[in-house]
Amino acid sequence: MKTILGKKHFINHEEWSNQELDTVFDLSFDLKRKFASGEPHRFLPDKTLFMIFFEQSTRTRNSMEAGMTQLGGHAHDLTEDKMQLSHGESAKDTSIILSRMGHGIASRNCFYGIGNKYLNEMAKHATVPVMSLQDDVYHPFQGLADLMTIFEYFGKNPKGLKVTVSWAYAKSHAKPLSVPQTQILLFPRYGLDVTVAHPKEFPLSKDIVEQAKKNAELSGSKISFTNNMDEAFEGAHIVIPKNWGGFGHYSMDDYLSNEDACKKEMSSNLEKYKDWICDRKRISLADKNVKLMHALPADRNREVTDEIIDDENISIVYDEAENRLHTAKAIMALTMAGR
Ligand code: CP
Repeated sequence: MKTILGKKHFINHEEWSNQELDTVFDLSFDLKRKFASGEPHRFLPDKTLFMIFFEQSTRTRNSMEAGMTQLGGHAHDLTEDKMQLSHGESAKDTSIILSRMGHGIASRNCFYGIGNKYLNEMAKHATVPVMSLQDDVYHPFQGLADLMTIFEYFGKNPKGLKVTVSWAYAKSHAKPLSVPQTQILLFPRYGLDVTVAHPKEFPLSKDIVEQAKKNAELSGSKISFTNNMDEAFEGAHIVIPKNWGGFGHYSMDDYLSNEDACKKEMSSNLEKYKDWICDRKRISLADKNVKLMHALPADRNREVTDEIIDDENISIVYDEAENRLHTAKAIMALTMAGR
């Protein structure tokens, strides 16, 4: 177990060892028990977290803000339009100033080709921990809550468990790649066998896929890829049907220089795959005790039918969402305590 985590940035799990993540999970379970029993746990009294959201959020915003209150501190809920960022103030200046006034900085910036670079630029200049609330590449808080939920349902040694991370049709918006990318990087490190399914025009980023394969090899787990959703569901213990945009179909340079044309092509590709839905027929291909996970918000009756997401024997999405609170508090307590 590693306990010296003060001021460590939390932008992606690849920079955290399994020992460090084990400490996070250990504390998350402890904080969950304390929350349930009403035991005070004011580990960050009078501390301030600055949260800057460039996009909307329900789970992330509220897990962080409620979490800071429960830990005895306060979170500022900021958006670009409330700040001089809207007049072009740099990430560097923003990060230095906020570091002088508080104890942690967190931001969500999912703009493709921009978000992760923006967070790293903030981290380069901050003297307090910088946390990613999701960017264009990673969603580390989601990954923690996902794994904590898997530990709760399948035990803390889930080696050999078959998890299917599948693309699914959705209409709501072109969702970032960050959730499935985080899952395929993180799950193999804990021994889970991952199958990734997507139509050919909706791949994940090549460098992430390569890193995920390395992570699987190092831990002795398996990762495989298919363009067939039915095949991916066969025998799965956990299924995660979720839409993501077709960003990975283009090189970053091509996408950024032809954004409008790429978006148009992505929407026309999307319409070819309306049958990529998690429904009763697909669930019946999986293990008889299969569990459904989803980071939420779900595009109901497009990604997954109401019948499946509302089936309490199958769906564990609300536990997964609640665990965003406990894991968020663990990261904040461990990284912000030292200052
Ligand atoms: N899963 C997740 O990040 O939800 P929000 O977008 O509501 O924060």
